[in-house]
Amino acid sequence: MSKLRIAVQKSGRLNEDSMKILKDIGISIDNGKDQLKASARNFPVEVFYLRNGDIPQYLKDGVVDAAIIGENVLIEKGNDIRVAEKLGFSTCRVCIAVPKSVDYKGIQDLEGKRIATSYPNTVNAYLKANNITANLHIINGSVEIAPNIGLADAICDIVSSGSTLFKNNLKEVEMILKSEAVLAVSPLLSDNKQVILDKIQFRIQSVLKGRQ
Ligand code: PRP
Ligand code: MG
Repeated sequence: MSKLRIAVQKSGRLNEDSMKILKDIGISIDNGKDQLKASARNFPVEVFYLRNGDIPQYLKDGVVDAAIIGENVLIEKGNDIRVAEKLGFSTCRVCIAVPKSVDYKGIQDLEGKRIATSYPNTVNAYLKANNITANLHIINGSVEIAPNIGLADAICDIVSSGSTLFKNNLKEVEMILKSEAVLAVSPLLSDNKQVILDKIQFRIQSVLKGRQ
């Protein structure tokens, strides 16, 4: 029988929690993140360790069958991908922040400003809904440094503990959306693999109930 291919984040905050839920549902993975691919010993599952931002496309193409991924990434890059289950961990929010020294009065203050972000689609949709036009600078990491080096007036990124904002003298001024880890499913999933996925989902639901 063909194995269900599940993508998880290769490294980063989601990786540890993703591996933990797989372990909690009784799926033992032999080798760690040094391998890009690992098979479960006791279940027809293969785990692929991938970059977060690449996962929505892999799901769309059916290269992987399912993924544990942040909802924020799906909203940014994969809005036609089905969420089978919200997983309740890795909660965060996507926010706009400005330097603490700025006297921010409301979203109209962002008109014509430069915003650095890794979430251009999310920010654009939010600005458009509020009739604001701004200039986006797309960067892939360490976004919070942008105002300090004169690259942008504001940033939009995920906030979890708030520590990165704090360390960079920024304050949250707009909350665009809340996010958590989800189990996402490829639109090209075959019936055979759906059977495996159903078993996994059932186990996940039991584990999540136990965690409450
Ligand atoms: C993420 C995110 C924020 C930070 C939020 O960055 O881009 O910068 O975490 O978490 P906090 O509110 O708990 O500080 P990450 O450390 O993953 O690095 P990157 O931006 O370079 O990818
Ligand atoms: Mg960051």
